[in-house]
Amino acid sequence: SYEFLKLSTPKEGVALVTLHRPKALNALCTPLFKELHTALASLDADRSIGAIVITGSERAFAAGADIKEMKDLTFSAAYSGDFIELWSAAVAQVKKPIITAVNGYALGGGCELAMMGDILYCSAGATFGQPEIKLGTIPGAGGSQRLTRAIGKSRAMEVILTGENFSGKQAGEWGLAAKVFETPEECVEGALGTAEKIARLSRVAVKAAKEVVNKSQDLGLREGVEFERRVFHGLFGSRDQKIGMGAFAKKEKPEWSHE
Ligand code: CAA
Repeated sequence: SYEFLKLSTPKEGVALVTLHRPKALNALCTPLFKELHTALASLDADRSIGAIVITGSERAFAAGADIKEMKDLTFSAAYSGDFIELWSAAVAQVKKPIITAVNGYALGGGCELAMMGDILYCSAGATFGQPEIKLGTIPGAGGSQRLTRAIGKSRAMEVILTGENFSGKQAGEWGLAAKVFETPEECVEGALGTAEKIARLSRVAVKAAKEVVNKSQDLGLREGVEFERRVFHGLFGSRDQKIGMGAFAKKEKPEWSHE
Protein backbone atom coordinates (compact mmCIF):
# COMPACT_ATOMS: atom_id res chain seq x y z
CA SER A 1 0.00 0.00 0.00
CA TYR A 2 1.38 3.35 -1.07
CA GLU A 3 0.54 6.90 -0.02
CA PHE A 4 1.44 8.62 -3.30
CA LEU A 5 0.89 5.89 -5.91
CA LYS A 6 -1.95 3.73 -7.14
CA LEU A 7 -1.03 0.39 -8.64
CA SER A 8 -3.20 -1.84 -10.82
CA THR A 9 -2.92 -4.47 -13.54
CA PRO A 10 -5.62 -3.38 -16.03
CA LYS A 11 -4.42 -5.78 -18.73
CA GLU A 12 -2.70 -9.11 -18.62
CA GLY A 13 1.01 -8.62 -18.05
CA VAL A 14 0.66 -4.82 -17.73
CA ALA A 15 1.15 -2.78 -14.57
CA LEU A 16 -0.30 0.72 -14.34
CA VAL A 17 1.43 3.04 -11.87
CA THR A 18 -0.55 6.23 -11.25
CA LEU A 19 1.13 9.10 -9.42
CA HIS A 20 -1.33 10.25 -6.78
CA ARG A 21 -0.56 13.42 -4.90
CA PRO A 22 -3.48 15.48 -6.17
CA LYS A 23 -3.21 18.42 -3.76
CA ALA A 24 0.29 19.25 -5.02
CA LEU A 25 -0.29 18.41 -8.72
CA ASN A 26 1.86 15.29 -8.23
CA ALA A 27 4.91 17.34 -7.23
CA LEU A 28 7.69 14.82 -6.87
CA CYS A 29 8.64 14.89 -3.20
CA THR A 30 11.27 12.47 -1.93
CA PRO A 31 8.74 10.13 -0.23
CA LEU A 32 6.89 9.84 -3.58
CA PHE A 33 10.09 8.92 -5.38
CA LYS A 34 11.01 6.41 -2.68
CA GLU A 35 7.64 4.74 -3.24
CA LEU A 36 8.13 4.83 -7.01
CA HIS A 37 11.54 3.22 -6.58
CA THR A 38 10.10 0.42 -4.43
CA ALA A 39 7.11 -0.12 -6.72
CA LEU A 40 9.13 -0.22 -9.95
CA ALA A 41 11.76 -2.54 -8.46
CA SER A 42 9.08 -4.99 -7.37
CA LEU A 43 7.28 -4.81 -10.76
CA ASP A 44 10.61 -5.38 -12.51
CA ALA A 45 11.08 -8.54 -10.45
CA ASP A 46 7.46 -9.72 -10.91
CA ARG A 47 7.38 -12.49 -13.53
CA SER A 48 3.72 -11.87 -14.31
CA ILE A 49 4.47 -8.33 -15.54
CA GLY A 50 5.86 -7.65 -19.02
CA ALA A 51 5.49 -3.87 -19.35
CA ILE A 52 4.77 -0.87 -17.14
CA VAL A 53 2.75 2.31 -17.76
CA ILE A 54 3.36 5.38 -15.58
CA THR A 55 0.74 8.11 -15.62
CA GLY A 56 -0.59 10.94 -13.45
CA SER A 57 -3.96 12.66 -13.40
CA GLU A 58 -5.75 14.54 -16.17
CA ARG A 59 -4.56 17.80 -14.58
CA ALA A 60 -0.98 16.86 -13.91
CA PHE A 61 1.42 14.12 -14.83
CA ALA A 62 3.74 15.88 -12.35
CA ALA A 63 4.34 19.61 -11.77
CA GLY A 64 8.01 19.09 -11.00
CA ALA A 65 10.25 18.38 -8.08
CA ASP A 66 8.74 19.58 -4.81
CA ILE A 67 9.77 23.24 -4.64
CA LYS A 68 8.72 23.55 -1.01
CA GLU A 69 11.00 20.63 -0.13
CA MET A 70 13.91 22.14 -2.09
CA LYS A 71 13.69 25.80 -1.23
CA ASP A 72 15.89 25.66 1.89
CA LEU A 73 18.17 22.86 0.74
CA THR A 74 21.87 23.65 1.10
CA PHE A 75 24.65 22.64 -1.27
CA SER A 76 26.18 20.32 1.30
CA ALA A 77 22.88 18.58 2.08
CA ALA A 78 22.13 18.17 -1.65
CA TYR A 79 25.65 16.94 -2.42
CA SER A 80 26.20 14.66 0.53
CA GLY A 81 22.65 13.26 0.32
CA ASP A 82 22.90 12.75 -3.46
CA PHE A 83 19.64 14.66 -3.88
CA ILE A 84 17.72 13.44 -6.99
CA GLU A 85 20.09 10.51 -7.61
CA LEU A 86 17.37 8.11 -6.50
CA TRP A 87 15.22 9.35 -9.39
CA SER A 88 17.52 7.86 -11.99
CA ALA A 89 17.84 4.69 -9.96
CA ALA A 90 14.06 4.40 -9.67
CA VAL A 91 13.31 4.54 -13.38
CA ALA A 92 16.49 4.14 -15.41
CA GLN A 93 17.44 0.83 -13.79
CA VAL A 94 14.17 -0.87 -14.67
CA LYS A 95 14.77 -3.54 -17.32
CA LYS A 96 11.16 -3.90 -18.44
CA PRO A 97 9.70 -1.39 -20.91
CA ILE A 98 8.13 1.70 -19.36
CA ILE A 99 5.60 3.82 -21.23
CA THR A 100 4.88 7.24 -19.76
CA ALA A 101 1.35 8.50 -20.50
CA VAL A 102 1.43 12.26 -20.01
CA ASN A 103 -1.64 14.41 -19.45
CA GLY A 104 -1.79 17.90 -17.95
CA TYR A 105 1.38 19.44 -16.53
CA ALA A 106 4.73 17.72 -17.04
CA LEU A 107 7.03 20.44 -15.77
CA GLY A 108 10.61 20.36 -14.54
CA GLY A 109 11.13 17.02 -12.83
CA GLY A 110 7.74 15.94 -14.23
CA CYS A 111 9.00 16.45 -17.79
CA GLU A 112 12.22 14.67 -16.81
CA LEU A 113 10.31 11.73 -15.35
CA ALA A 114 8.22 11.52 -18.53
CA MET A 115 11.43 11.37 -20.58
CA MET A 116 12.98 8.67 -18.38
CA GLY A 117 10.49 6.16 -19.75
CA ASP A 118 11.15 4.19 -22.93
CA ILE A 119 8.14 5.41 -24.91
CA LEU A 120 6.38 8.71 -24.28
CA TYR A 121 2.70 9.16 -25.15
CA CYS A 122 0.75 12.32 -24.39
CA SER A 123 -2.50 14.10 -25.04
CA ALA A 124 -2.48 17.15 -27.32
CA GLY A 125 -3.36 19.45 -24.42
CA ALA A 126 -0.52 18.29 -22.16
CA THR A 127 1.88 21.02 -20.98
CA PHE A 128 5.58 20.23 -21.03
CA GLY A 129 8.37 22.48 -19.86
CA GLN A 130 11.60 22.92 -17.95
CA PRO A 131 10.78 26.06 -15.95
CA GLU A 132 13.70 25.70 -13.50
CA ILE A 133 15.40 28.81 -14.91
CA LYS A 134 12.48 30.84 -13.54
CA LEU A 135 13.29 29.47 -10.09
CA GLY A 136 16.93 30.47 -10.34
CA THR A 137 18.17 26.97 -11.09
CA ILE A 138 18.50 24.42 -13.91
CA PRO A 139 17.03 20.97 -14.67
CA GLY A 140 18.54 18.45 -12.27
CA ALA A 141 17.10 15.07 -13.24
CA GLY A 142 18.47 14.67 -16.75
CA GLY A 143 16.33 17.28 -18.54
CA SER A 144 19.20 19.10 -20.22
CA GLN A 145 20.52 15.80 -21.59
CA ARG A 146 17.37 13.87 -22.48
CA LEU A 147 15.45 16.82 -23.92
CA THR A 148 18.43 17.80 -26.07
CA ARG A 149 18.76 14.27 -27.44
CA ALA A 150 15.01 14.13 -28.07
CA ILE A 151 14.35 17.48 -29.76
CA GLY A 152 17.79 18.79 -30.74
CA LYS A 153 20.05 21.46 -29.25
CA SER A 154 18.45 24.63 -30.57
CA ARG A 155 14.91 23.76 -29.44
CA ALA A 156 16.12 22.36 -26.10
CA MET A 157 18.13 25.54 -25.49
CA GLU A 158 15.07 27.64 -26.24
CA VAL A 159 12.92 25.62 -23.81
CA ILE A 160 15.51 25.47 -21.03
CA LEU A 161 16.84 29.03 -21.34
CA THR A 162 13.41 30.70 -21.47
CA GLY A 163 11.54 28.29 -19.18
CA GLU A 164 8.59 28.54 -21.58
CA ASN A 165 6.20 25.62 -21.84
CA PHE A 166 5.26 23.64 -24.95
CA SER A 167 2.16 21.63 -25.72
CA GLY A 168 1.62 17.91 -26.19
CA LYS A 169 0.87 18.63 -29.85
CA GLN A 170 4.27 20.29 -30.14
CA ALA A 171 5.91 17.35 -28.31
CA GLY A 172 4.58 15.07 -31.06
CA GLU A 173 5.77 17.34 -33.85
CA TRP A 174 9.24 17.56 -32.30
CA GLY A 175 9.51 13.80 -31.84
CA LEU A 176 9.52 13.89 -28.03
CA ALA A 177 6.25 11.95 -27.95
CA ALA A 178 5.83 8.79 -30.00
CA LYS A 179 2.05 9.36 -30.20
CA VAL A 180 -0.28 12.24 -29.38
CA PHE A 181 -3.91 11.54 -28.44
CA GLU A 182 -6.95 13.80 -28.44
CA THR A 183 -7.98 13.10 -24.84
CA PRO A 184 -6.31 12.00 -21.59
CA GLU A 185 -8.38 8.78 -21.51
CA GLU A 186 -7.26 7.88 -25.03
CA CYS A 187 -3.67 8.57 -24.01
CA VAL A 188 -3.77 6.14 -21.06
CA GLU A 189 -5.70 3.54 -23.10
CA GLY A 190 -3.20 3.90 -25.94
CA ALA A 191 -0.30 3.38 -23.55
CA LEU A 192 -1.97 0.34 -21.99
CA GLY A 193 -2.66 -1.09 -25.45
CA THR A 194 0.96 -0.75 -26.51
CA ALA A 195 2.15 -2.14 -23.17
CA GLU A 196 -0.14 -5.15 -23.65
CA LYS A 197 1.29 -5.80 -27.13
CA ILE A 198 4.82 -5.68 -25.72
CA ALA A 199 3.93 -7.85 -22.71
CA ARG A 200 2.71 -10.59 -25.07
CA LEU A 201 6.07 -10.82 -26.83
CA SER A 202 9.17 -12.77 -25.85
CA ARG A 203 10.35 -11.33 -22.53
CA VAL A 204 14.01 -12.09 -23.18
CA ALA A 205 13.91 -10.47 -26.63
CA VAL A 206 12.08 -7.40 -25.29
CA LYS A 207 14.64 -7.00 -22.51
CA ALA A 208 17.50 -7.27 -25.01
CA ALA A 209 15.83 -4.84 -27.43
CA LYS A 210 15.43 -2.22 -24.69
CA GLU A 211 19.04 -2.70 -23.65
CA VAL A 212 20.48 -2.27 -27.14
CA VAL A 213 18.37 0.78 -28.00
CA ASN A 214 19.42 2.43 -24.73
CA LYS A 215 23.07 1.76 -25.54
CA SER A 216 22.68 3.93 -28.63
CA GLN A 217 22.37 6.90 -26.25
CA ASP A 218 25.74 6.19 -24.63
CA LEU A 219 27.97 4.60 -27.29
CA GLY A 220 29.41 5.70 -30.61
CA LEU A 221 27.95 4.05 -33.74
CA ARG A 222 30.68 1.43 -34.21
CA GLU A 223 30.66 0.29 -30.57
CA GLY A 224 26.87 0.42 -30.52
CA VAL A 225 26.56 -1.78 -33.60
CA GLU A 226 29.12 -4.22 -32.14
CA PHE A 227 27.23 -4.32 -28.85
CA GLU A 228 23.98 -4.97 -30.73
CA ARG A 229 25.59 -7.84 -32.66
CA ARG A 230 26.90 -9.49 -29.48
CA VAL A 231 23.46 -9.36 -27.90
CA PHE A 232 21.90 -10.59 -31.17
CA HIS A 233 24.33 -13.52 -31.19
CA GLY A 234 23.51 -14.20 -27.55
CA LEU A 235 19.81 -14.55 -28.34
CA PHE A 236 20.58 -17.67 -30.43
CA GLY A 237 21.08 -19.24 -27.00
CA SER A 238 17.52 -18.40 -25.92
CA ARG A 239 14.54 -20.71 -26.09
CA ASP A 240 12.36 -17.95 -27.50
CA GLN A 241 14.52 -17.50 -30.59
CA LYS A 242 14.02 -21.20 -31.39
CA ILE A 243 10.31 -20.92 -30.59
CA GLY A 244 9.86 -17.74 -32.69
CA MET A 245 11.73 -18.82 -35.80
CA GLY A 246 10.49 -22.42 -35.50
CA ALA A 247 6.88 -21.21 -35.39
CA PHE A 248 7.43 -18.96 -38.44
CA ALA A 249 8.82 -21.92 -40.42
CA LYS A 250 5.79 -24.07 -39.44
CA LYS A 251 3.34 -21.20 -40.09
CA GLU A 252 2.23 -21.33 -36.45
CA LYS A 253 1.85 -18.68 -33.74
CA PRO A 254 4.75 -18.68 -31.29
CA GLU A 255 4.02 -19.68 -27.68
CA TRP A 256 6.72 -17.77 -25.82
CA SER A 257 8.47 -19.41 -22.89
CA HIS A 258 8.45 -16.13 -20.90
CA GLU A 259 11.81 -17.19 -19.52
N1 CAA B 1 6.32 21.77 -5.86
C1 CAA B 1 5.57 21.90 -4.76
N2 CAA B 1 4.23 22.23 -4.81
C2 CAA B 1 3.69 22.40 -6.02
C3 CAA B 1 4.44 22.29 -7.21
C4 CAA B 1 5.81 21.94 -7.10
N3 CAA B 1 6.60 21.75 -8.17
N4 CAA B 1 3.63 22.54 -8.25
C5 CAA B 1 2.41 22.80 -7.75
N5 CAA B 1 2.45 22.72 -6.40
C6 CAA B 1 1.36 22.94 -5.45
C7 CAA B 1 1.06 24.44 -5.30
O1 CAA B 1 1.96 25.04 -4.39
C8 CAA B 1 -0.36 24.40 -4.79
O2 CAA B 1 -0.33 24.05 -3.42
P1 CAA B 1 -1.25 24.89 -2.36
O3 CAA B 1 -2.65 24.58 -2.78
O4 CAA B 1 -0.86 24.29 -1.05
O5 CAA B 1 -0.89 26.32 -2.53
C9 CAA B 1 -0.96 23.19 -5.54
O6 CAA B 1 0.15 22.41 -5.98
C10 CAA B 1 -1.77 23.61 -6.76
O7 CAA B 1 -0.93 24.44 -7.56
P2 CAA B 1 -1.35 25.89 -8.07
O8 CAA B 1 -2.31 26.53 -7.12
O9 CAA B 1 -0.11 26.65 -8.37
O10 CAA B 1 -2.13 25.49 -9.40
P3 CAA B 1 -2.29 26.37 -10.73
O11 CAA B 1 -3.26 25.63 -11.59
O12 CAA B 1 -2.55 27.80 -10.42
O13 CAA B 1 -0.83 26.31 -11.45
C11 CAA B 1 1.20 25.23 -12.20
C12 CAA B 1 -0.32 25.09 -11.90
C13 CAA B 1 1.38 26.19 -13.40
C14 CAA B 1 1.74 23.85 -12.57
C15 CAA B 1 1.92 25.83 -10.98
O14 CAA B 1 1.57 25.05 -9.83
C16 CAA B 1 3.42 25.81 -11.09
O15 CAA B 1 4.00 26.67 -11.75
N6 CAA B 1 4.09 24.83 -10.43
C17 CAA B 1 5.54 24.76 -10.39
C18 CAA B 1 6.11 24.23 -11.70
C19 CAA B 1 7.62 24.21 -11.64
O16 CAA B 1 8.28 25.24 -11.53
N7 CAA B 1 8.22 23.01 -11.70
C20 CAA B 1 9.64 22.83 -11.68
C21 CAA B 1 10.09 22.47 -10.30
S1 CAA B 1 11.86 22.48 -10.12
C22 CAA B 1 12.36 20.95 -10.63
O17 CAA B 1 11.58 20.14 -11.07
C23 CAA B 1 13.84 20.70 -10.51
C24 CAA B 1 14.33 19.49 -11.23
O18 CAA B 1 14.73 19.54 -12.37
C25 CAA B 1 14.44 18.21 -10.56
